This record gives sequence, structure tokens and C-alpha cells, in this order.
Amino acid sequence: MKEREHFGSRRAVIYAMAGSAIGLGNIWRFPYMVGEHGGAVFVFSYIVATLLVSLPVFIAEISLGRRSRTSSFGAMSRMDPAHGRRWRWVGLMSVFIPLFILCYYSVIGGWSLYYLIKSCAFDFVKGSPDTVGNLFGGFISSVWMPVWMHLLFLAACAWVVARGVKSGIERFSRVTIPGLFVLIIVLIVYSVSLPGARAGVEYLLRPDLSQLNVKTFVYAMGQSFFSLSLGMGAIVTYGSYVKSDENLVVSSAGTAIFDLLFAVLAGFAIMPAVFAAGIEPGAGPGLIFESVPFIFSSMGTKWPVVSAIVSVLFFLAIVVAAMTSVISLIEVGVAFLHDRFGMDRRRASALVFLVCGAVGVVCSLSFGPLSGFRLAGKNLFELFDWFSSNVLLLLMAFTVVIFVGFVMKKEDVRDEITNGGRKQRNARWFGVIYFLIKWVAPISVLSIFVTNFIL
Ligand code: PHE
Repeated sequence: MKEREHFGSRRAVIYAMAGSAIGLGNIWRFPYMVGEHGGAVFVFSYIVATLLVSLPVFIAEISLGRRSRTSSFGAMSRMDPAHGRRWRWVGLMSVFIPLFILCYYSVIGGWSLYYLIKSCAFDFVKGSPDTVGNLFGGFISSVWMPVWMHLLFLAACAWVVARGVKSGIERFSRVTIPGLFVLIIVLIVYSVSLPGARAGVEYLLRPDLSQLNVKTFVYAMGQSFFSLSLGMGAIVTYGSYVKSDENLVVSSAGTAIFDLLFAVLAGFAIMPAVFAAGIEPGAGPGLIFESVPFIFSSMGTKWPVVSAIVSVLFFLAIVVAAMTSVISLIEVGVAFLHDRFGMDRRRASALVFLVCGAVGVVCSLSFGPLSGFRLAGKNLFELFDWFSSNVLLLLMAFTVVIFVGFVMKKEDVRDEITNGGRKQRNARWFGVIYFLIKWVAPISVLSIFVTNFIL
């Protein structure tokens, strides 16, 4: 059998993981979740959830992937000492969930692409600050444009995946992440200087405890898993490409902290502008598409050229960040079809494109012609988003930590986390890490999940 491909270097691992983790989850989803769930209380719950629960889940997933050296579908069956077939359905879920997420995620990728085109046409700089935010409503309720953008975006990503792990993914994530980081800092500096921005900063920093409830935690934990690409096989699959001398704890912690920082910074770029523009913070999935053009338009009244350049670079970086995430979502499906059915990468990518592209079209239309279809006040797109983060990811992450904590041999887990005892610092911390994986993570996820359904 051909040897499994490996990521070339440590930097490549971190970049690829960060490329998967950092995406629309940080820039689009985090600010809108903060706005819908009470501001600072959400930010703090999210930070706690990431450090205490998501990080151990991350280490569990990456260890499982590297140990089993197979994609998420077969990882559990292979590592079960009893070789039970009962893990097969979990493996299947871990393939299904990312594909489910892909369907609607790529719709937002399409929105970002559209905004990139708009910024290339200088539409935000030319429009007045009061009107540019309103472009969004007209755009998503139209029929064709969002659909084409979604399909175009998804096709581009599928094409990258078809070219293979190394050449495609590594090269892509290396350039864009640092660029996006710098651009967000530029936006923060401008955004907090806007008149009325102060209220936005306070909204992020001053907790309003009356807003705190179980839902805050459910959404915060779901957001944290979503943002770190957990509970869906992506990190397990990536783990299977990680070299055996790589320090898993350092890579995991590096990715988690990077990702957290990005989300919080995105919050500080967006929220002050939301308040300055008088947009309702709980405006939902359109939040950044309404507030960011406001930033560029008002920047454009003072410095049109700077604003034009920054807006193009910003949306370009978002599109690419979204692409690296989507690439990792497609990769899960492709690795499965390849490892399991021997399908070549090109065909597998094409198949994923066709199926998810079609379902995505329906999600896209749910803001327009299909907006009448609602369940519990949510349209189809919002149902996909809610169901995946608040139900599927939590269940899947729970299963992974239970598997790593109770089914996999403890020695195997120790071996992975400490690289056979060679990483001494990890060896010293192993007890704590193992305890977090085995007890803290599953109990937190389960109790929050159950309380949410009871209340
Ligand atoms: N973590 C990505 C983000 O924050 C989304 C993603 C989810 C990517 C699942 C891969 C797998 O945007």
C-alpha cells in the first residue's frame, strides 16, 4: 500500500490546522452569536469552553487520527480493542456531519465572494454609510446571484482538494492567515475610532449577568467546537497526516489559542461598527455583511484609496479563509470515499461538489423564495446552522472523548500524547490532560446538552 501522505513540517501542520479552524466561524459566526446571546457573557463562556473543553477534545481527536492513521470513518473501528462493529455508525456520522455543514457553509462562502466582487467594483467606498448596509437584504433575498456565488465558491474549493493534500492545502493556508490577522487589526483600529463605537467595546467587555443562562453555554460550546472544526472528523482526518515526531499538545494548544484570538479580534472589529452604524447586534447571520461595508464606506469618506484597498484585501482574505475551511470539510468526504471505496480524489471531489452543491442551493433559497418555510422561527439555513452546531457537533465530540477516554487503551493514548514518552513535559501533564478528556469534557458537554433540552 502507498504510504500515507504527511504534512511536510511542523509549521505546515499548524498552518493547515489553523487554516481549517480559522474561517467564517471566527469572522462571520462568532460576532453574530455574540450579538444574539448577550455580548460579554457569551464571549467569556466561549473562552472558558474553548480552554476547558474544546482543547482536550482537540487533543483527543488529533491523537485518535494519528494513532489510527486512517480517516475519521475507520479511526474508531480500528482503535477499538474489541474490534467492535458498533463504532461504524459513529464513523459514518463523522463523515456525514462535515458534509452537512458544507452545504450551508459554502453559501456564506458565496456571500463573501459576492462582497469581494462588490469591493473590487468600489461599491462600498462609493456608497453612503447609511445605504451600503442595506445591500445585503436585497442580495440574499434574490434568487440567482447567491446561488451562483455558492456554486462557484464550492467548485473552486473542490478543485483544490482534487489536487491532493500537500500541493493544495498547505500552499493555500500559508499565505492567507497572517494577512487576515493584520487586516483585522487595521479594522479594529478604525472601527473603535468611529463615533458611537464605545458602546460596542463595552458590549464585548462588560458582562450583563441577566443575559446568562444555559442557552449561552450551549451556544458558546457549539460555537467553540464549530470554530475549532471539532466533532466532525476534520481534525481526526488531519491527525492521520501528522508525523509521528510532532508534539500534539503544542500543535493543539497553538491552534486553539490562535483560533480564539482571531474570533475575539473579529468581535472587536465588528461590534464597535455595529453600534456605530446603529445596527441591531442580534441581527443574525447577516451581521458582518451589514456592518463591515459601513466601516469601509465611512473610511472612504476620509481616505477613499485606503478604504478601497483595505476592503478588497479584507474580503479576499475572508474568501480564502473560508476556502481553507471548506477544503478541510471536503477533505473528510474525499478521504472517506478514497480510503473506503478506492475512488480517486478527482471523482470523489466531484461527487461531494454535486451533492453538497445541490443541498446548498436549497439553503441559499431559504432567504428568498423559500423563506416561508420555517420551523420554530428558523428558516432552513438557520436550521442547518443550529442543528449542526448545537446538536450534531456536541454529540459527536462527546462520543470522541468517551471513545478516547474509555475504549481506547490508556497506554495508546499516553503513547500518542507523549510521543512514546519522549516529550517529557507532556508526560508530566498527561494525568491532567487525560482527566480533562475522560471526565471534564464529556460531563460538561452532556450536562449542558441535556439541561438545554429539559429547560
Ligand atoms: N472551523 C471552521 C470555521 O471556524 C469551520 C469548519 C468547521 C471547518 C468544520 C472545518 C470543519 O470557520
